Amino acid sequence: MELTYTLCSLEDLQLLRQISEETFSIAFAKDNNPIDFKNYIEKAFALVRIKEELLNPNSDFFFAYHDNELVAYFKVNVEEAQSDVKRDDSLELERIYVLSQFQGLGIGEKLLDHIKKLASEKNKKMLWLGVWQENKKAVKFYERHGFEKFDTHPYFIGSDEQTDWLMRFNLSTL
Ligand SMILES: CC(C)(COP(=O)(O)OP(=O)(O)OC[C@H]1O[C@@H](n2cnc3c(N)ncnc32)[C@H](O)[C@@H]1OP(=O)(O)O)[C@@H](O)C(=O)NCCC(=O)NCCS
Repeated sequence: MELTYTLCSLEDLQLLRQISEETFSIAFAKDNNPIDFKNYIEKAFALVRIKEELLNPNSDFFFAYHDNELVAYFKVNVEEAQSDVKRDDSLELERIYVLSQFQGLGIGEKLLDHIKKLASEKNKKMLWLGVWQENKKAVKFYERHGFEKFDTHPYFIGSDEQTDWLMRFNLSTL
């Protein structure tokens, strides 16, 4: 399955906001208290918030297409835009979402390969991410692709405190 990638710009703001909220809700609404969840998504996926993130020079959003159809998006951060590790030689994969109807087809694997290369081309040594410890499918997916847990951090969905695993991939093994 061949994928093509486009770097998102302000012109993509509405679509990016919609895809971000939709993919997050489909993945996680069922596992969360509805009020906490609503409070979270209203803030996290507000148009002004996504616009701010798009305008951050140290953050990039990409859409991934297969046969001209949008199948996934991801967001990467460097330097100060990273949320935990803020090393010069690290890159954070903050979000990676395959649209639900395209999951389990190998797209996630292709995305990770692409992101590892992208990080390597930026001369980064470490690719890292935070994943909800209860998101077993994603944890397993990252482990299968060479990521290992190195820490945890608390993550709030509304007032509900959850635990994210911080996982890293050593880019010098590429
Ligand atoms: C986690 C996620 C990014 C993985 O992407 P994906 O495209 O589903 O991943 P892949 O298809 O490459 O691999 C997933 C599974 O499909 C299987 N698979 C891979 N290629 C396949 C193919 N051609 N046919 C059928 N199954 C396949 C893999 O073996 C893997 O199995 P596993 O779950 O037992 O590990 C995606 O499922 C997703 O967006 N989930 C919801 C949001 C989320 O949790 N994001 C991560 C937040 S940190």
